[in-house]
Amino acid sequence: MGLVVLEGLDGSGKGTQAGLLLSSLKKRLGPVRKVDFPDYDSPSSALVKMYLGGQFGTDPGDVNAYAASTFYAVDRFASFHRVWGEDYKKGVPILADRYVTSNLIYQLTKVPRAGWEDFIAWAEDLEYGKLGLPRPDRVLYLDMPVEVSQRLLSQRYRAGGHKDIHESHLEFLRACARSARFVGERQGWEIIPCAENGEPLPVEDIHEKVRTKALEALGM
Ligand SMILES: Nc1ncnc2c1ncn2[C@@H]1O[C@H](COP(=O)(O)OP(=O)(O)OP(=O)(O)O)[C@@H](O)[C@H]1O
Ligand SMILES: [Mg+2]
Repeated sequence: MGLVVLEGLDGSGKGTQAGLLLSSLKKRLGPVRKVDFPDYDSPSSALVKMYLGGQFGTDPGDVNAYAASTFYAVDRFASFHRVWGEDYKKGVPILADRYVTSNLIYQLTKVPRAGWEDFIAWAEDLEYGKLGLPRPDRVLYLDMPVEVSQRLLSQRYRAGGHKDIHESHLEFLRACARSARFVGERQGWEIIPCAENGEPLPVEDIHEKVRTKALEALGM
């Protein structure tokens, strides 16, 4: 039936919306599979964990766009083959919390502007071409301003845990917001506004938009 991707910066509400969308799609369509990237429960995410944990350097720029992209790409390859590829081929709708599109956003920031088109072409060829991962039918981008998502994340981290090297570099996240706008416009992502006047919109309101767009993408 298809692959719908929920994309957005750190703390933009992907997990929250993916959970709600999964239940409402299941009610409507029957079996639906949700997958999360990185797949932290799988050993295939080892290099991603090392990178985000700062083992190659504590600045995101310490690992270049190409190297970092391969860490995430092999994790998706493993997940596709071990977890959701069969269902996808059988036509079970797949809902992904992050996907290849996250590399386009986060890693693009490390590439000079003149090289953006080349990087996008390289990253897409690597994952959709060489690694054989399916292209999304629709990308829903949760457009939550960095200032707002930072606030939401601080609330979350006050309850425990600590930020990874992406989450703790505000300038990096602002640059990610700019690259997301660039890629989103070029590739026709569905942009879902998630805040107004510096405040997050109610979770249910965002869900309603996400649900409508996801059903549309799945031909419903
Ligand atoms: N619309 C909203 N209004 C208020 N709080 C929200 C909203 N959406 C999400 N939150 C809260 O903000 C925090 C971040 O949300 P969530 O974990 O869903 O984001 P995420 O995009 O999955 O984050 P990450 O990129 O870190 O995985 C959570 O504590 C969540 O409960
Ligand atoms: Mg999440």
